[in-house]
Amino acid sequence: MIDLEKDLSQTLIAHDLVSSESLQEMTDMFLGFKEFMMMYNCAIREVQTKFEVLNDDFSVAYKRNPIEMIKSRIKKPASIMEKLKRRNYPLTMESILNNLNDVAGVRVICSFIDDIYEVAEMFANQDDVNVIAIKDYIKTPKKNGYRSYHMIVEIPVFFSKRKQNMRVEVQLRTIAMDFWASLEHKMKYKKDIPDIEKLEKELKECAEIIAKTDEKMQSINKGLSKEQ
Ligand code: GTP
Ligand code: MG
Repeated sequence: MIDLEKDLSQTLIAHDLVSSESLQEMTDMFLGFKEFMMMYNCAIREVQTKFEVLNDDFSVAYKRNPIEMIKSRIKKPASIMEKLKRRNYPLTMESILNNLNDVAGVRVICSFIDDIYEVAEMFANQDDVNVIAIKDYIKTPKKNGYRSYHMIVEIPVFFSKRKQNMRVEVQLRTIAMDFWASLEHKMKYKKDIPDIEKLEKELKECAEIIAKTDEKMQSINKGLSKEQ
């Protein structure tokens, strides 16, 4: 868990909100944030469990696990505030719920490309999963070579006094796509890299090689499955 109190006070100072907000308002905001982070944490757990259940069911029915790993993350209050400000949204809890899709994030790492589509479809078809948006960067990769299947979903979470529909960003990718995205992410956040164009070109080439390898691995796996 992040140090919410420290992160939030730093955020408020960075955005010059301390002077404009009274202490009472600041305290209310902090308590509101705390509750919100708990709610997003619960939403993450619900989504994660859904994928774990699918994986368990698969392993009994087909004797294999389509999901290699599930990682999740919650956006830090500082990044939430920064994004609201950048997009000119109100800095309120209501605004976070309505305007931000990526406060809660779940990343599902699969072995094969077909598994991604199969698992995504099973998840999307569940009664309580409402798919808000899909971006298929596997069929249409980004210019830099990025590949992944993105879904924004809304799921109901039942709290002591109310039910709240919560949005979660789900990213599904293969192990190789995840490996690539981690390195590319590292480059994106490093400043003043000499010869950046060369590195970008090399990364793009790696993305193409990885895509071909993913396809080959899948066809080998299909060949092996037929043998059994
Ligand atoms: P916002 O995240 O709200 O700005 O929307 P968006 O349109 O940028 O969403 P998109 O689905 O394109 O990306 C959401 C997330 O996917 C990012 O926060 C990253 O985690 C991941 N992602 C998207 N593009 C890239 C990329 O080029 N490289 C890497 N490493 N990750 C990416
Ligand atoms: Mg983005």
